[in-house]
Order: sequence, then C-alpha cells, then structure tokens
Amino acid sequence: MASPGREGFEASLAELSASAPALIAGADGLPALEAARVSLLGRKGRLTLLLKSLKDLDLEDRKRLGPEANGLKGRIEASLDEKLGALQGAALEKELDSFRLDLSLPGSPCPRGRRHPLVQTADEMAEILRRLGFSWAEGPHVESDHYNFWALNFPPDHPAMDAHDTFYVKAAPGRTLLLRTHTSPVQIRTLEAQRPPKPVRIISPGRVFRHENADASHSAVFHQIEGLCVDRGVTMADLKGTLRLFLEGLFGPGTRMRLRPSFFPFTEPSAQVDIQCTLCQGAGCPVCKRLGWLEILGAGMVHPNVLRGAGYDPEVWSGYAWGLGVERVAMLKKQVKDIRLFYQNDLRFLEQWS
Ligand code: PHE
Repeated sequence: MASPGREGFEASLAELSASAPALIAGADGLPALEAARVSLLGRKGRLTLLLKSLKDLDLEDRKRLGPEANGLKGRIEASLDEKLGALQGAALEKELDSFRLDLSLPGSPCPRGRRHPLVQTADEMAEILRRLGFSWAEGPHVESDHYNFWALNFPPDHPAMDAHDTFYVKAAPGRTLLLRTHTSPVQIRTLEAQRPPKPVRIISPGRVFRHENADASHSAVFHQIEGLCVDRGVTMADLKGTLRLFLEGLFGPGTRMRLRPSFFPFTEPSAQVDIQCTLCQGAGCPVCKRLGWLEILGAGMVHPNVLRGAGYDPEVWSGYAWGLGVERVAMLKKQVKDIRLFYQNDLRFLEQWS
C-alpha cells in the first residue's frame, strides 16, 4: 500500500533532479550561485522541505525514496561545489588578467647626479697641487678673531681689515667668533699643529664669508683655495715656479702669468698674480676690461711675524703662501658671467658640465 503523499513526493523529486543541474549550471556569478543554493538547500529550500516531508511517508516508501532524495542532495552539493570552484577560478583569472605586468612599459628613469661645477673646479685644482706634493687641510668656518686676523699679523684697526668685514657670532665675553673671511687661518692652525716645527706643504679649500652685497661678481659666501709651503730655504723663486706649474695645469700649457707688488699683512713681500686673459690672449676684451690680464690670486712670502707666532724661527724657516677664489676660476674656465648662477641649483645650469 502506498502512503498518501508518495506520488507528490516522487513528482517533486523527479522535477528537482531534472531542473537543479540547469539552475546551477546557469548561475553566471557568485551571487546567482548562492541564490540557487538557497533555493535548493536553504532552510526553506525546495529539497530541504522535500526531505523534511519524508517523515510523512510510509516506512516502505521512506526506505526507497529516502536514499534517492539524499542521493540527489549529495549530487546537488557536489555540483554546487564544482560550480563555486569554477566561478572563483574565473574571477581570479580575470583579476590576474587586469593586473598583468606590462614589460613593454619603459622603466622610470633614475637621474644621475654629478659634481657641482665649483666642486669640479676645486677638485681639479687640488689634483694639480696634489701631484706637486701638497696635502689637504681643513679648518672651521666659525673662526676666532685670533686665527682670522691677529695671528696673521693684521694690526688692530688696520685698513686691510676693511675688505674683511664679516658676520660675527655671539661668543663668551672676551672671545670673538666670526665667519672666517679667508682660508688663511688654516695656515696658522697647520703650523701650530707641528711640534717641533716640520716642513709643511698644504692646500686648504673651503668656504669663506664676507659682508658683501651680491652682484654678478660678488657673493657673501664663496670659496677659496689656500696654499702654504714652509721649509728651510724656501724662496720667492719656489713660489713662482709652483704657481707657474699650477696655473699652466689649470689654464693650459703656455699660460702667461705676472706678479705685481701688493699688500697682505701676513706676507712680505706680497704679490697680486695675474694671468694673461684666457679669452683674448692679451689683446684686450670685455672680460679682462681691455687690460689683457686677469687678477687671479694673492700670494707672497710668509711674514716673519706669522712664522714666529706659530712657533717657527724665521731665521731657520721660510715659506710662501697664496689664496685664490674658486668661483673666479670656475667663471673663467666655464665662461660663467654671473656668480649667482652657482648657488641657484638650477639644473639647466648645473647640467652643462659633467
Ligand atoms: N687671504 C688672502 C685674501 O683672502 C689671500 C692670500 C692668501 C694672500 C695667502 C696671500 C697669501 O685676500
């Protein structure tokens, strides 16, 4: 004897097993698949309800239709799983496609730096002098008046100090600190560091400061290279020979130079050194102001007072020194017309020299 709901049950089971595969297969995305799962196996899903109604069937029918219905449930679960895997795989595929590395794109450029034209000029000078036996010395930018002036034989209130007006730094009472106006203090610091006195041959490149209004050829901050040679029996001829080699190395073989008498408190005699104009070869042009010569550096024989003050007996030791501006040389060599261009960090200017 068949139980009352059996035919309905069988019909529903047949209908579900025919329609469920198409429902699942037709889901075109994860939300559609989830909707299909809920409609079949959710709490009020059609198969869920059908399975619940098993208990209303007779024992015989239950024994036969129960496994059938549970078999269908297993097949539906398996195909839901399979479809889920397929949809997730497709979604991943799509994502990977949209993120694909395009190796044909040009790389982002990594700009290459270079030395500043002033550093290039200072390095070039230091290299020539290194080959002549000069080593490298440095001193502080904030300097005492002792090293900047008094140890260099500046008499107090001497007019020579007018050219050395600078910026003063607040210091302890009785102590005067200033931004050094030249690299010459390094002469004193170097000589004082030799105990007992020894021959020295140094250059000292560095930044110097002066109270100056900026224009095309002046800057309150600029750079110098100091040279100092002290030994037994050093003469003015050594100074001239060294400067000739130095200036020929810098401006080319055959560069002519001349020494004119000058004054510095720390050298005696003192000279202003000119080179023949590199642009007009002495004929006279706007760069040399029609003079045919260019002032390039200050030099002289180290003053006996300077030697004595630094612990060198001037009866035994003698020496020469010079100082020159890095900007001045760079402007001549690179034909730069305005000193301020060096400090503006404009790549269009800086990139012109590698
Ligand atoms: N220190 C001097 C200046 O700045 C230059 C100089 C150096 C002159 C060494 C003679 C010797 O003007």
